[in-house]
Amino acid sequence: MKKILIINSSIRKKSTYSLLKRIEALLGESEVEFVNIKDFNIRPCTGCENCLRKGTCPLSDDANLLLSQITSADGIIIGTPVYLRHISGYLKVLIDRACAWYHRPALAGKPVFFVTTTQVTGSRQAVRYLQDLSVQWGTIYAGALPRTMFNLEKELKKRTFSKFLFYLDDKNTTKYRPSFKQLLEFHTQKVLAVNILPLDLEYWREKGYIDKPYYYDCRITLCKRFLGHLYYKMLSYFIGKNKVE
Ligand SMILES: Cc1cc2nc3c(=O)[nH]c(=O)nc-3n(C[C@H](O)[C@H](O)[C@H](O)COP(=O)(O)O)c2cc1C
Repeated sequence: MKKILIINSSIRKKSTYSLLKRIEALLGESEVEFVNIKDFNIRPCTGCENCLRKGTCPLSDDANLLLSQITSADGIIIGTPVYLRHISGYLKVLIDRACAWYHRPALAGKPVFFVTTTQVTGSRQAVRYLQDLSVQWGTIYAGALPRTMFNLEKELKKRTFSKFLFYLDDKNTTKYRPSFKQLLEFHTQKVLAVNILPLDLEYWREKGYIDKPYYYDCRITLCKRFLGHLYYKMLSYFIGKNKVE
């Protein structure tokens, strides 16, 4: 059975928590695990970049525990309250601690779904940020459920999660059509792996990404393949010329 991890990024067990709990009940046929970020001791990133350069983090806390729970799930639902038109600080701290996933995409091909709650404003900006994050992570953005004080209690429909549930089965990723933005992000990370970060190159080689048009087999038109490759060649040339040894 496929495993779904639901993450509540609010310090409280109120609006976001209760909405996520209703989603948990709705998706009850799958194996669902529910966590509250606040139950984990996760310290803010110190900015040392060890995770990028050496593959380790000097902080000793619960971040790795939660990050490995996320990587072992087949699909992830992340809920956050909107704070000043953005995600909660708790969630941002966790995302910063997963910085290496931008380069070594541990969640590539997994569906992610976002849930936001707000009094009135800011969900559009928060969801846009999260959607962009899902591109950087190489995940499949499977939608978002932004709720305000006016529709928080509105009935949930299973079809809202149909894309998420479809891509929960990794056999279905072959039917996925990545956007051009996703392809450009993939090729940008490939250029960085090949030219800048040796640890990334090792990872990319091990995963067999280097010769692929995207992280996994999926539907990419010939035109997009060509443009992606051209972008890769041009960026490689530019970086090669300006490389600081
Ligand atoms: C620090 C802070 C910032 C907030 N910023 C916004 C905001 O920009 N727009 C808004 O409509 N509501 C804002 N809110 C209200 C919360 O988004 C809203 O109450 C949310 O549903 C709380 O979720 P929770 O009950 O799961 O903690 C803010 C609340 C806090 C505490």
